[in-house]
Amino acid sequence: MRNTTQHRHRCDHLVFCFFISSIFFPVLAMSPGVITTTHSLTRDQTLVSGGDNFELGFFNRSSNWYIGIWYKNIEQRTIVWVANRDSPLRSSSGTFTIGPDDGNLHLLDETGESIWSTNQSRAENTVAELLDTGNVILRQENDKNPENYLWQSFDYPTNTLLPGMKLGWDSKKGLNRYITSWKNLDDPSSGDFSFQLDINGFPEIYLRKKQMILYRSGPWNGLRFSGVPEMKSTFFSFLFVNNPDEVYYSFYLNNQSVYSKLVVQYSGELHRYTWNPTTKSWSTFWYAPKDQCDRYRECGVYGICDTNASPICKCMKGFLPNNPQAWSFRDGSAGCFRVNKLNCRDDGFLTLKSVKLPESGTAFVDMEMSLDQCKEMCRKNCSCRGYTNANISRGGTGCVIWAEDLYDMRLYAAAEGGQDFYFRVPASDLGM
Ligand SMILES: *[C@@H]1O[C@H](CO)[C@@H](O)[C@H](O)[C@H]1NC(C)=O
Ligand SMILES: *[C@@H]1O[C@H](CO)[C@@H](O)[C@H](O)[C@H]1NC(C)=O
Ligand SMILES: *[C@@H]1O[C@H](CO)[C@@H](O)[C@H](O)[C@H]1NC(C)=O
Ligand SMILES: *[C@@H]1O[C@H](CO)[C@@H](O)[C@H](O)[C@H]1NC(C)=O
Ligand SMILES: *[C@@H]1O[C@H](CO)[C@@H](O)[C@H](O)[C@H]1NC(C)=O
Repeated sequence: MRNTTQHRHRCDHLVFCFFISSIFFPVLAMSPGVITTTHSLTRDQTLVSGGDNFELGFFNRSSNWYIGIWYKNIEQRTIVWVANRDSPLRSSSGTFTIGPDDGNLHLLDETGESIWSTNQSRAENTVAELLDTGNVILRQENDKNPENYLWQSFDYPTNTLLPGMKLGWDSKKGLNRYITSWKNLDDPSSGDFSFQLDINGFPEIYLRKKQMILYRSGPWNGLRFSGVPEMKSTFFSFLFVNNPDEVYYSFYLNNQSVYSKLVVQYSGELHRYTWNPTTKSWSTFWYAPKDQCDRYRECGVYGICDTNASPICKCMKGFLPNNPQAWSFRDGSAGCFRVNKLNCRDDGFLTLKSVKLPESGTAFVDMEMSLDQCKEMCRKNCSCRGYTNANISRGGTGCVIWAEDLYDMRLYAAAEGGQDFYFRVPASDLGM
């Protein structure tokens, strides 16, 4: 107590007081809110974002130590990002600092060796800062322009997509951002499950176990992903950007005091959580795969999945099951074959209402064409199997054409979601 009193007495000289407090209270020395070559983080110190939303520091799982980011105001520690997920510290005596030689962020082990770094080209006078969005950035000391960040954690997501993070491609930076599950609850290292945007054709997002596809979101139809009818909410706004420089999905919160995150779990499910401040717990707002029809290619080629039907797999009109016995045992994965051949010249189209669009990685897309032009283009091309609008908002615009076999469609209740899809049949099947 006497010391404290003395300390207070002597503290009428600003520089001296700062000196004293940085000796006795090293945490206070962190108050500039940045990491520099001289302000490092060690085990019991954290970096807090400007608006107190997020905190960055050391955490452990079993005997391994990591640098992570979590919500500052949520008691139940919720890790949203891990720096060194695949190269853990073996002891708690590490240092998170800026390397004096290269200006990068480094995690040093107890011997002072760098076990993780931001790997950017050499820069001088850099500082690392935790933004209130949960993004830790490396920038030039006097340059706060986001365009000039040297590195940012939002470009290297772990298992969590936070509001404002981009899931997808940036061709200028050569980045493909996607989320990958933890190995298990006690191990944040890269697990088997990932949720990754495929920019080919009509872009959509795939949930995979290693290379195996488990679920697809369906392509963005201007309002939502074709296979996620639940994307209606007053809490969030969803964004899908597709231009020559970038293709990405992102979400934003309309109410800044709501917390929400999209996580690919080690169990293999994709969950959107929102924080319930009353129960002090995360509740699942949405998840996938949710039912049998969400399972990838559940009904095989030219099959359509309908959770309200029994069996749930049906063939498109003009098609019959490839394997009737398996079909009767409710295994639809062998799909369906076309009964009457197409002859190209006088084929027509039937309409499927309220469907999740077929797998679209090889589809042709034109955002300007009308539905009539789209139909004409499909009719003239003998390999075209079906077409529809690329954007269903405001009555529908644009054109998507499928010139390969159709997979992974499902029916939705009309009010629920989906869109009309037009598929090619021979003239003889038109009356069906
Ligand atoms: C972190 O390490 C301590 C011992 O240093 C241990 O008691 C604790 O269980 C560990 N925490 C987790 C989540 O593994
Ligand atoms: C940095 O580069 C080294 C060597 O290429 C690599 O082993 C390490 O994983 C990289 N670290 C990060 C964080 O990308
Ligand atoms: C879809 O159409 C709407 C209305 O015309 C437009 O505002 C939106 O940008 C379009 N979306 C895409 C992805 O082209
Ligand atoms: C925003 O969310 C908070 C917490 O759920 C709630 O108390 C508040 O009323 C909401 N504000 C608006 C404008 O909806
Ligand atoms: C038919 O459409 C497909 C997909 O757009 C395209 O690859 C193919 O070249 C087209 N064929 C003809 C004859 O136009």
